[in-house]
Amino acid sequence: MKKHPFGNTDIQISPLGIGCTDNVEVIELLLDAGCNLLDTAQCYGAHEAFLGEHFRHRRDEFFLQSKCGHHEVLPDGSMRSLKITMADIDAALRKLRTDHLDAMLLHSYDLDALQRGDAIEVLQAAKAAGKIRFAGYSGDNERALFAARHGAFDVIETSISIADQTQIDTLLPLCREKGIGVVAKRPVANAAWRGFEDLKQVAAKASVYTQRLAEMNLYLPAFGFTDDNAGWSELALRFNLSLDGLHSSIIGTKNPAHARANLAVVEKGPLPPEVLQQIRDAFHRAEAASGRVWLGEN
Ligand SMILES: NC(=O)c1ccc[n+]([C@@H]2O[C@H](COP(=O)([O-])OP(=O)(O)OC[C@H]3O[C@@H](n4cnc5c(N)ncnc54)[C@H](OP(=O)(O)O)[C@@H]3O)[C@@H](O)[C@H]2O)c1
Repeated sequence: MKKHPFGNTDIQISPLGIGCTDNVEVIELLLDAGCNLLDTAQCYGAHEAFLGEHFRHRRDEFFLQSKCGHHEVLPDGSMRSLKITMADIDAALRKLRTDHLDAMLLHSYDLDALQRGDAIEVLQAAKAAGKIRFAGYSGDNERALFAARHGAFDVIETSISIADQTQIDTLLPLCREKGIGVVAKRPVANAAWRGFEDLKQVAAKASVYTQRLAEMNLYLPAFGFTDDNAGWSELALRFNLSLDGLHSSIIGTKNPAHARANLAVVEKGPLPPEVLQQIRDAFHRAEAASGRVWLGEN
């Protein structure tokens, strides 16, 4: 797979990355095909330990990024970002069985916690100690914009897809200007088109995307795509491949057939510019008609 510069890092990254999955076959086949971004997080159950156990022997083949500091739930039910220390970085290294991470990202870190600055200092100290190569932020909207402007972050992971386009207009230009590597989470919109017939087919968090896609009223045959899962997943991934300054899309799949289909789509490359523009227009038109602001979904 052809790789591209990852912002101002010295890394060449693949346009298709590997989201959280516990299917060894999926990760093996994606690595074999040249996907070289592996995403995990402290709060993804035992996923860091799983990657350490099964992929330590291929460690030099991929950019390994994890996340820490995700929310804790307080007694009154509210949530706040966990304070992080160097122990969080050390724990990730131990579980992942590696002597360094390529990037550690602050996971959906709240704006006030970011502004406090202590978590950023931990990342900088970890960088100076050679435990991480790059500092990152994972999140959306004003928090991601704060991170992009701050200057301490080399990598940002954020929601970008056919159903989540706002940050293409807000965050991507800033990241391009600053040379920040950008990774799209939820890049095929959680396959939310599966909910057109029955919302129970999609995860609860994806129902917003199903609603948006319905309101965008895209007619796939008009773009030369079939109106089925194959057509939708191709349109969604090629949409992300078309975006200037978006470096990698980390699809989460447990299904080897879907992983192979996604690899085949990457070979087709970006959408024709006029199709890209029609999908951008459909998003903006539907958002305006809805009377709501369609922010990046966490
Ligand atoms: N930082 C954060 O807070 C955050 C939040 C969300 C996600 N993430 C990261 O981003 C990654 C991707 O996000 P995501 O998994 O939520 O969303 P996603 O990649 O947009 O969608 C995943 C869904 O799409 C389906 N899918 C994938 N390829 C398909 C294909 N060719 N045909 C049909 N369905 C297909 C998968 O089902 P199958 O398993 O059946 O293929 C899965 O249900 C995650 O795995 C995680 O690493 C981070």
